[in-house]
Amino acid sequence: MKALITAGGHGTRLRPLTYTHNKHLIPIANRPMICRAMDMVTEAGIRDVIINVNKGDTEIRGLVGDGKAWKARVQYIEQEAPLGLAHVVKIAQPYIGKDKFLYFLGDNILAGGVKKYVKEFLKKGSSCHLLLSRVPDPERFGVAEVKKGKIVRTVEKPKEYISNLAVTGVYLYDHHIFEAVKSVKPGAVLPGRQIAELDIPSAHQWLIDHGYKVTFSEVTGWWKDTGKPKDLLEGNQLILSEIQTKIETKDIEPNVLIQGKVRIGQGTKISGRSIIRGPLVIGENCIIKDSYIGPFTSIGNNAQITDGEIEHSIIFNDTSINCSQRIVDSILGEGSIITSCHQTLPSGHQLFVGDNSMVEL
Ligand code: G1P
Repeated sequence: MKALITAGGHGTRLRPLTYTHNKHLIPIANRPMICRAMDMVTEAGIRDVIINVNKGDTEIRGLVGDGKAWKARVQYIEQEAPLGLAHVVKIAQPYIGKDKFLYFLGDNILAGGVKKYVKEFLKKGSSCHLLLSRVPDPERFGVAEVKKGKIVRTVEKPKEYISNLAVTGVYLYDHHIFEAVKSVKPGAVLPGRQIAELDIPSAHQWLIDHGYKVTFSEVTGWWKDTGKPKDLLEGNQLILSEIQTKIETKDIEPNVLIQGKVRIGQGTKISGRSIIRGPLVIGENCIIKDSYIGPFTSIGNNAQITDGEIEHSIIFNDTSINCSQRIVDSILGEGSIITSCHQTLPSGHQLFVGDNSMVEL
């Protein structure tokens, strides 16, 4: 059994974060998404992994390398343009050959990993096994229509309601999928995309129409496709709600109040009248003074927070926050600086904001 993980694309819905970094490097509870994908795949016992990256990528390769950290062997394939998920399967064929494989979209996270679904697929002996999840907004996903316990139809981002069963980005295949993807023709150009893509539900439909065994599991726990900023915050919340306390620093002053489950990294100093209320994670070498860090917040390494209040947010590495305002539901990219407007004159909100940013004052 092999695994094919996607880590390419331009992450247009996550701009401006994705102007500087590949979206799969965005940290969820301080762990980049691609590392979480590798965790899930290897926890399922798969050691032979192929990662699809953008042309000329160095970031994903730099982080995952040859996969030794996961006791896996990782090979990379480059997609010359974002031509769709069925296209990724096409170009991966020489690496996968006749093996069965797990196709994992690197921006998906799900509770409890994928091990039990891999087992189910192997037990059922299907050509294709899909993971379905009930969602309130099926038009955002590939959708499956199920009749009498069988998938009869799969459609990419249907404009009209078919069902509320989204097909998650976790697919299990045998080699027949390679025949199926050959039959897929470019569809309509979807909103937010530049070119018509070869979508993956059309390949599933081909398998159904040609009598191959297509089975499914309904995902029991939570599942998240982290396509939009709001999804990142929700994914962060879901992961943090399952963390266990681990405090790796001794540099916490006695008056600091720590409540709930928290993870705090080495070299981090917390002082003054700070309140740290979990579940949350704070990285290494941060300085937190006279601040409130509230539930469902992830703070990366080397952050400096003074007189700040932050809740339900993702704060990347090397960020500096020094203001007496409460920051909620926010994502702050690497090296961001948030200061109080009273520190400079004339007073007022001074903004230096990149394209497609969102600021609420
Ligand atoms: C992709 C697939 C879609 C699937 C979804 C799951 O959509 O095209 O069929 O339901 O992943 O995450 P995208 O996230 O690229 O819009």
